[in-house]
Amino acid sequence: MAALEAIGLRKRFGTLQAANDVTLSVEPGEIRGLIGPNGAGKTTLVNLVTGVYAPDSGEVKLAGQSITGLAMHEIARRGLVRSFQVTRLFGNQTVRENLLTAFHARRPANVDGEAAAERMIRLTTLGPLADTPAKKLSGGQRALLQMGCGFMVPGSCYVLDEPFAGINPVIKETILEMIVEVNRAQGAAFLVVSHEMAIIRQLCPQVTVMMEGKVAAQGTLDEVARLPAVVAGYLGKALE
Ligand SMILES: Nc1ncnc2c1ncn2[C@@H]1O[C@H](COP(=O)(O)OP(=O)(O)OP(=O)(O)O)[C@@H](O)[C@H]1O
Ligand SMILES: [Mg+2]
Repeated sequence: MAALEAIGLRKRFGTLQAANDVTLSVEPGEIRGLIGPNGAGKTTLVNLVTGVYAPDSGEVKLAGQSITGLAMHEIARRGLVRSFQVTRLFGNQTVRENLLTAFHARRPANVDGEAAAERMIRLTTLGPLADTPAKKLSGGQRALLQMGCGFMVPGSCYVLDEPFAGINPVIKETILEMIVEVNRAQGAAFLVVSHEMAIIRQLCPQVTVMMEGKVAAQGTLDEVARLPAVVAGYLGKALE
C-alpha cells in the first residue's frame, strides 16, 4: 500500500486548470522527486495533498485511508507533514526551545520530546547554538532550524516544497543529510519538490515530472531526461 496517493486530482483557478487529473503515489520509505517547469502545478499538487486546497475532484489517500478535503491540521495529525511553510520560528526562543515548541504543538504520544530535540540538534548541526535565540541565527541556520522543527512532528510522509531554494551549498548538504537520516531512521516517505537536478539525482531514485498541470513522465531522472518532451519543456532549460 502506498504511503501517499493522489488519484485523479483536479484544481481550477478561474480558467486555468492548475492540476489536471494528477495521479501519483509515493511508496513507504521512498524519497520521490517532483520536478517540472515554473507554473507546472507542483505547489498546487502539494497544496492539494496537504489540505491547503480542496480538490475540485479526485482523491488523496494516506496509507490507504482517504484524507480528501480534511483540514490541514487533521492531515498533519495523521502523519502527512509539510515542512518549511508550516513551521514558524520564535525569535526569542532558543534553538532547543523552538524544537520543543514544534514538538508540543502536536503532542505526539509515546515520544520523548527532550530526546527528539537532542537528536534534531545533532542532525541540524546546530549543537553549538542550541541555547542561542533564533533571532541571532543566520539565514542558513534558520533554514536548518525550520527544517528541524518540521521533522519534530512525527510523520509517515513528509512533503517538502523547494527545501533547497535560496540556500548555500553547505546548508544544502546538511538538509540533504537530514532528509536521508529521517528517511532511514523512521522509514518515512518523502515527496521533494526541487529545481536542483544535482540534488534530486543524489536523493531521489525516482522522479515524477509535471508539465502544464499534468504528470508528463515518471522514472529515474536519467530516464525522464531522455524524453524529448521533458527536455524541450523543462530540462533543456534547467540544465543549461
Ligand atoms: N491560488 C491561486 N490562484 C490562482 N492561480 C494560482 C494559484 N496558485 C497557483 N496558481 C497558478 O497555477 C499554476 C501552477 O502554479 P504552481 O505554483 O502550482 O506551479 P509550480 O509548479 O509550483 O511552479 P514553481 O516551480 O514556479 O514553484 C500557475 O500558473 C499559477 O500562477
Ligand atoms: Mg512551486
